Amino acid sequence: MNLLFAATELSPYAKTGGLADVLAALPVALRRRGHSVACVLPLFRSIRETIPELRPTDLVLHAPLGPGLQSARIWEGRTDREIRLFLVEKDEFFDRTYLYGPPGKDYTDNASRFFFFSKIIPLLAPHVRPTPEILHLHDWHTGLAPAFVRAGRLPFRTLFTIHNLAYQGNFWGLDFPLTNLPSDYFSPAGIEFHQHINCLKAAIVFSDRLTTVSPRYAREIQTPEFGCGLAEVLRERRYKLSGILNGADYSRWDPRSDPALPAPYSEHNTGAKQLSKDLVAKQVGWEPSGAPLFCVISRLTAQKGIPLLIEIIDEIRKEEGRLVVLGEGDPYLQESLLGLAREFPKSIAVQIGFDEAFARLLLAGADFLLMPSLFEPCGLTQLYALRYGTLPIARETGGLADTVASWDPATGQGTGFLFQAPVVSAFAEAVQRAKAVYRDPPSLQAMRQEAMRQEFSWDRSAAAYEEIYQRLLGRPG
Ligand code: ADP
Ligand code: GLC
Repeated sequence: MNLLFAATELSPYAKTGGLADVLAALPVALRRRGHSVACVLPLFRSIRETIPELRPTDLVLHAPLGPGLQSARIWEGRTDREIRLFLVEKDEFFDRTYLYGPPGKDYTDNASRFFFFSKIIPLLAPHVRPTPEILHLHDWHTGLAPAFVRAGRLPFRTLFTIHNLAYQGNFWGLDFPLTNLPSDYFSPAGIEFHQHINCLKAAIVFSDRLTTVSPRYAREIQTPEFGCGLAEVLRERRYKLSGILNGADYSRWDPRSDPALPAPYSEHNTGAKQLSKDLVAKQVGWEPSGAPLFCVISRLTAQKGIPLLIEIIDEIRKEEGRLVVLGEGDPYLQESLLGLAREFPKSIAVQIGFDEAFARLLLAGADFLLMPSLFEPCGLTQLYALRYGTLPIARETGGLADTVASWDPATGQGTGFLFQAPVVSAFAEAVQRAKAVYRDPPSLQAMRQEAMRQEFSWDRSAAAYEEIYQRLLGRPG
């Protein structure tokens, strides 16, 4: 099949979270299954600066944006995995330091930026060879594209993947003329949501199929607790909604070959994990220690349960437990964490920023990964942590529930520690369970090995997407 992926992130060139890792890996897995896949992204500054051998093409596309006509030149390139890339050059929108806005903020013209990008996607598709039959769109930045396909009666089938329902691309109704859609699209049956334009709702209503990035999240978002106001809209369309778990790209995330580690290790030889633990300590200015090391590698937002983390610091610090946090996001949460690091410099270290090499070292060096997420569409960090033998302590929600098996003291089996209610007592209790296993080295070792044996392959995900593409094209599976 011929597929065109459209998104705003792609590892390692433009990344704020897991979406980038998905875009780097899923097209490769689909190509391995014999499909032709190209991707279209905005030509962000970071992409221009990092992808070698990008070249402008002769193709210039024009789309209205309100009263005026806007143009964009299309550039071409390839990822380091030889996936074909089309990039939309519009420097006034995309040649910026950040993808969406400075930490904790949005650029004020995000409506124009991403409405325009969504318009270019179906305009580009007919120029791609072989001509795509399916547009596979990701997250709200591409959310209006299915509406443009519908309004223009264009010959593409659309699959929209929801990576995170909480980010919807909500803009005030006065921006509706920027869509240039017929006026009846601005109605509750269309893209309107409480007098606002809602890009994610547009995708939910107008795409032919919808997926989430884990089966559990597909069910959760149909409930008021997780539906972010769209539960009813989703329930009404559950006939076209399903969940496909993300994979982990083990060619990039494997302690046997990760160049960021001081020494490789494997399931059969976890001894060298200690060297990473010692190096983490050294890098944050601590003496090496035999006490449990907890880590957080995350966007610092409410979604990720950071307020809960802050509240259980005393529990973590008991029995000389230590915590290293790597992340960036909400300035208030950043400040609170930095305050804790100042208060407890011997047991809490906080590094603000996005640093993939340190993220990898932490994944290897820590004993436990904390992911107390209030909701988690899939979560990739816990998948990587499992492969690095670092046991997740996570809330039983979304993809976390689908990928982490909670330790059962009766059988001695499990790959992590899950808790249910998003409250301090439940989270603290899970930390206590983890510490109990830490005090029992044979159990700890058995859990690590079980965790490292888990396989969340992209090929399995690609096969599930393939089935959906086939049904979209009316072909038997
Ligand atoms: P989300 O997409 O919701 O942020 P995921 O778990 O799916 O969560 O993906 C997060 C990705 O971003 C992982 O690859 C993780 O290692 C990475 N990451 C998050 N924060 C940082 C950071 N501060 N520095 C480096 N990598 C980070
Ligand atoms: C989103 C979700 C995360 C998921 C990622 C990739 O950012 O928050 O749970 O793993 O997308 O699909």
